[in-house]
Amino acid sequence: MNKKLFKRFLPYVFKYKFFLLISFIALIFATLSSIIIPYLLKQAIDKYIAVENFQGLTRISMLFAAVCGVLFISKLVQIYFTNLTGQKIMQDLRIDLFKHLESLAVSFFSREPSGKIITRLTNDVENMNELLSSGIIALFGDMALLVFAVIFIFYINARLALIAIAPLPIAIASAILIGNKLERLYEKVRDYMVKINIEMQENLSGIVLVQAFNVEERNSEKFRQIAMGYRKTFYTAQMTGIKLRQIINLLSYISISLVIIFGGIFTLKGKATIGTLMAFLVYLNYLYRPLRDLADKFTILQNAISSMHKLNGFFEEKEIIKNPDNPVIKEIRGNVALRNVNFSYDKKTPTLKDINLTAKNGEKIALVGFTGAGKSTIANLILRFYDADSGVVTVDDIDVRKYRKEYMRSSMAIVLQNVFIFKGTVRDNITLGNNSITEEQIISAAKEIGVHSFIMKLPKGYDTELSTEGTNVSQGERQLISFARALVYNPKILLLDEATASIDTNTEELIEKGIKKLMEGRTSIVIAHRLSTIKNADRIYVINRGRIIEQGTHKDLMQKKGLYYELYTMQFEKV
Ligand SMILES: Nc1ncnc2c1ncn2[C@@H]1O[C@H](COP(=O)(O)OP(=O)(O)OP(=O)(O)O)[C@@H](O)[C@H]1O
Ligand SMILES: [Mg+2]
Repeated sequence: MNKKLFKRFLPYVFKYKFFLLISFIALIFATLSSIIIPYLLKQAIDKYIAVENFQGLTRISMLFAAVCGVLFISKLVQIYFTNLTGQKIMQDLRIDLFKHLESLAVSFFSREPSGKIITRLTNDVENMNELLSSGIIALFGDMALLVFAVIFIFYINARLALIAIAPLPIAIASAILIGNKLERLYEKVRDYMVKINIEMQENLSGIVLVQAFNVEERNSEKFRQIAMGYRKTFYTAQMTGIKLRQIINLLSYISISLVIIFGGIFTLKGKATIGTLMAFLVYLNYLYRPLRDLADKFTILQNAISSMHKLNGFFEEKEIIKNPDNPVIKEIRGNVALRNVNFSYDKKTPTLKDINLTAKNGEKIALVGFTGAGKSTIANLILRFYDADSGVVTVDDIDVRKYRKEYMRSSMAIVLQNVFIFKGTVRDNITLGNNSITEEQIISAAKEIGVHSFIMKLPKGYDTELSTEGTNVSQGERQLISFARALVYNPKILLLDEATASIDTNTEELIEKGIKKLMEGRTSIVIAHRLSTIKNADRIYVINRGRIIEQGTHKDLMQKKGLYYELYTMQFEKV
C-alpha cells in the first residue's frame, strides 16, 4: 500500500479511532483467553484429573468457565465495534464520493460510463468495509494467535514442538506462493465485474432502442461472453483458493499425526503427559487455521487495495470547472456575449471557431444551423460546463470565469435538448427538490406555461410519479414540464435548446406559447429547430460548422437569401 492511499483513507479510519481502540482491546482479550484455554486444559488433565483431585478440578473448571466467558464477550465486543466502524466509514466514503462526483465537470461524465461509476460507489466501497470488518483486524488477531501458539508449545515441550511444526514452513511457503497467484486472478475477476455492470447499465438505459432494433440477441451474446469470462476466472480463483486450503489441511493432518505418534511415544517414556498432547492438538489448530484462512484474507486484502486505488483515482479526478479565488459578486442583469471564442472538445478538432455574439439584457437571440453545427456547444460554454480554449464568454461584460459558477448559474435556466425527467413526482420535477419554491409558485408557473390543466388530469395531479425515462408522459408534455421547471426558477437568462422531436400541432401551439411566456422579460438564447418560433427574435445567428456565417433579424436574413433563407423555405415546403 502506498503513501498516497494511506493519506487519502486514514482520516476516515481515524475519525473512529475510539471505536477501533475498543475493538483492538477486545481483540487482545480474546487472543489471550484463546491462548490460555488449552493451557488450562493441560493443567486440568495432568494436575487434577490424573491424580483424582476433585477440589482442584472444580477450581480449574470455574477458571476455565471464566476464561471462556471473557473470550465470548470480548469476541462479541470486537465484532460489534469493527462492524459498526466499517459501516460508518462506508457511509462517509459514499457521501464524500457522491459529493465529489457531483462537483466534477460535465466532460468527466461524457467520458466515464455510468456503470463504472456505480461500481465504484457500491462494490469498491463495500470491499473497503470487508477489509476492516474481516480483514485487517482479524488478520492481526490470527497472527498474534499464531505467534503465541508457537511460544506456548515450545514452553510446554520444546522437543515435541519442534517435531510438530516441521511441516509449518511448507505451509507458509505455499500460502505466499499461491496467495500471489490468487491476487492476480482476483484482479481479473474484478475487471469482469466492472464490465458486467457497464454492460447491464447501458443496456437497461437503452432498453427501448435495444428492443426496437432487435439487438437483444446480439447484446445477450455479448453479455454471455462477459458473464462466461467472469465465471471462468472466478471459478479458477476459487479453485486456487481451495487448493491452498487443502494443502494446508493436509500439512495440518501431518502435524497432528506427528504429535500423536511422537507425543504418544514421549508420554509412554514419561517425557510428556496426556495433557501436553491435548494442549498441542488445540494449539496446532491455532497455527494452521490462520494459514488456511489466509487465502480468503489475502483476497479481501487485495480486493480492498485495488478498490482503494480505484476510489482514490475518482477522488483525484480533478476535472473540475474551477471557481476563482476572488469571485465577482454583483447582481446579474443578463447581458451575455461571446468574444472570439474558439473551442474544441478533444483539443484537436475545433468545434467552435471565432464565435462573436451578444444578447443584451432582455433581448432574444436565436441560434440556428444544421445538426452538429455547434449550437448546443455554445450553450455549454455560456453555462460554463466547459471553458473556451481562447476568447471569452462574458455575463454583464465580466468573464464568466470570474464568477462563482454556482452563483452565475443561479441566474440562468436551461431547457435541455433532450428533456430529462427525474424519478419523482411532477412537483419534484418542477422544483428539482428546492423546498423554498412554494406551491403557488409551482402552480402559477405551470398555468403560465399552459401545462397546469394537463397535470391536473394526471391520476394524482402534481403528486403523480414520473419514471426516469419519463415514458409515462409524452415528449411534448415533458418539454412543457421542463418549461415550468425553468420558469419557476425565474432566471435572468434563459437558454433554451429546443428538442428536435416533432410534435402534433396542438402541442406545438402550447409549446410555442410556453416558449413565448418563458422568454418574457429575460435575456433569451434560443436554439431553434422550428424556425417559426424565432421570427420575432432580435437577432438570429446562423451557425455552420462551428462558425457564424450569417446574422440579423428574420427579415434581414430572408432578404439575404443565404443559408437561413434556405433552411426556412425548406422547413415550410415540407409542411
Ligand atoms: N461531449 C462531447 N464530446 C465530444 N464531442 C462532442 C460532445 N458534444 C458534442 N460534440 C461534437 O461537437 C459538435 C457540435 O455539437 P453540438 O451538440 O454543439 O451540435 P448542435 O449544433 O447542437 O447539433 P443539434 O442540432 O443536432 O443539436 C458535433 O460534431 C459533436 O459531435
Ligand atoms: Mg444540440
